[in-house]
Amino acid sequence: MLFSDVVLQPAPALTWRTIGGILDLYIFLGPDPGSVIGEYLEVVGKPAMPPYWALGYHLCRWGYDSSNNTWDVVRAMRNYGIPQDVQWNDIDYMDRALDFTIDPVKFSTLPDLVKDLHIHNQRYVMILDPGISSTQPAGSYLPFEEGIKQGIFINKSSGDTLIGKVWPGLTAFPDFSNPDTHEWWYQNLKKFHDKVPFDGLWIDMNEPSNFFDGSIDGCPSNDLENPPYTPGVLGGSLRAKTVCASARQKITSHYNLHNLFGLMEAKASASALKKILGKRPFVISRSTFPSQGVHSGHWLGDNRSKWKDLYMSIPGMLTFNLLGIPLVGADICGFSDTTTEELCVRWTQLGAFYPFTRNHNTKESKAQDPTVFSPAAQTAMKEALLLRYSLFPFLYTLFHHAHLSGQTVARPLFFEFPTDQKTYVIDKQFLWGKSLLVTPVLDPGVDYVVGYLPQGLWYDFYTGDSIVSKGEEVKLRAPLDKINVHLREGSIIPTQRPNTTLWVSSGQPLRLIVCLTEEGLAEGDLFWDDGEALDTYETDQYAYITFRLKESTMTSEVVHSHLEASYITVETVSFYGVKSTPTSVTVNSQEAAFNYAANQVRGPIRFWINGWDYKAEKENEIQWDN
Ligand code: GLC
Repeated sequence: MLFSDVVLQPAPALTWRTIGGILDLYIFLGPDPGSVIGEYLEVVGKPAMPPYWALGYHLCRWGYDSSNNTWDVVRAMRNYGIPQDVQWNDIDYMDRALDFTIDPVKFSTLPDLVKDLHIHNQRYVMILDPGISSTQPAGSYLPFEEGIKQGIFINKSSGDTLIGKVWPGLTAFPDFSNPDTHEWWYQNLKKFHDKVPFDGLWIDMNEPSNFFDGSIDGCPSNDLENPPYTPGVLGGSLRAKTVCASARQKITSHYNLHNLFGLMEAKASASALKKILGKRPFVISRSTFPSQGVHSGHWLGDNRSKWKDLYMSIPGMLTFNLLGIPLVGADICGFSDTTTEELCVRWTQLGAFYPFTRNHNTKESKAQDPTVFSPAAQTAMKEALLLRYSLFPFLYTLFHHAHLSGQTVARPLFFEFPTDQKTYVIDKQFLWGKSLLVTPVLDPGVDYVVGYLPQGLWYDFYTGDSIVSKGEEVKLRAPLDKINVHLREGSIIPTQRPNTTLWVSSGQPLRLIVCLTEEGLAEGDLFWDDGEALDTYETDQYAYITFRLKESTMTSEVVHSHLEASYITVETVSFYGVKSTPTSVTVNSQEAAFNYAANQVRGPIRFWINGWDYKAEKENEIQWDN
């Protein structure tokens, strides 16, 4: 059921107009919003567990223009000590925008750059477009010639190869509904990987996008091209900026497969990466379809360096979390137009809370990586990214729950507070999981932000100060170097001392933050594995630890252990919201030293202690007396 209009009516009702296919209707009963998503993902497939480095900071742009320029940016990031896990290249790395080639002059040092990234425990991702150039001299471009021999391209209804136009000029389009195409794609990736050992793939223009309408010679006139009703698609016709609806693919007409192009390409790409790397694949796709999350993440496409686009990225990110594609983010600082320093700082702060965090812009705009801004702006961006890196154990565990049971990672407030109607319209704030509330600044020239705190006790992430909310809006201080983050009562958040790559920071001991309810309860968990191996949950190569606080005793239990994954140490445990000064604290029955601070404003007191080593014991306990 591929071409349809779905219109939300005020009634409330939906009007659904579809012009083909089979309509399978499922009704997911919930009862709560999170269960509806979990039930939906039971049907279409739960998201893949990303490799750990996918959750680090990614830097990209169209128009680095050379591998040496790209390398300079990587070096500058290292010099400034700004976290970066992944460097990307756009189509400018290619020879005349041809897939599976390298510009022999400007990008001659690309293989060395990739080697250098790997030495520094960083990763490399490059773009691939589906359009395969069809006009190269005979014998000079095998991806096209072999593709023709193997019959893997989309054909016109007459049976000849359909030719459109994308960045390299005239192109054919691979038909990913054909298993032979997957093999051809894999073979080309493998050959390219032998030259440039990339770690992941960015698949773009895969609607598929075509600069012609239909093909170089238009499309025939028939029922598929001119259906009795045309849904409200871009350009007003099915062929607009894509291939002909009546084009022929292996299993059926393009009419029936159009919306599946990006999904099928992602599937081919993820499976090729698995074969080439033997590790978890990392793929980011522009076009998506239900079940995409099984194979790839998504970025929200070409936005602009505008405050409105900064704001709109939140509903975009939340929507894709509802659709089972939690690894999602927008182009940080904006793709087109020129960003400003203030916008870019605010965007990096919000972007530090996109599940997928990448700064990217177009070749017409000036550089906008953190290193080109003033020292103050750089510091603010660095702090935001370090904050993200410190939250890695928590974020990684949320992705585990997405993979295991279809939970959202970035989550609208109404998911957690479904009886509070005020949360229904909130799209300027969001949660990570059920307990970390992000309130970004989305407007220029302000040093505060107004945010809604649902009823309950909330703790300032940085200070442990508490706010008891009746379900009200609060005005929060937000100077340029700060993004507001609050922790919900009852949660235990695993964090780590951050570093400039997740490789280093994920090796640091844990710092647990325990947020007491009024009754003194809290709970949390940690999923931990080697971060890259395939199917660690399915093959038991992971550790899973739960934390529970009750009656002034916090217990952590290794529920599942695996030799390597289980070696985890705890550096500190901070308790937010203790009602009175502890007189003594024990860790595993041994008297332990602790620090204690009474916050000035009201109430909560916090204390923290030094931790322990998990390898020795399965259960650990911290207890305190008042
Ligand atoms: C498309 C992509 C954009 C990319 C450009 C060049 O517009 O959406 O991200 O930079 O193509 O490849």
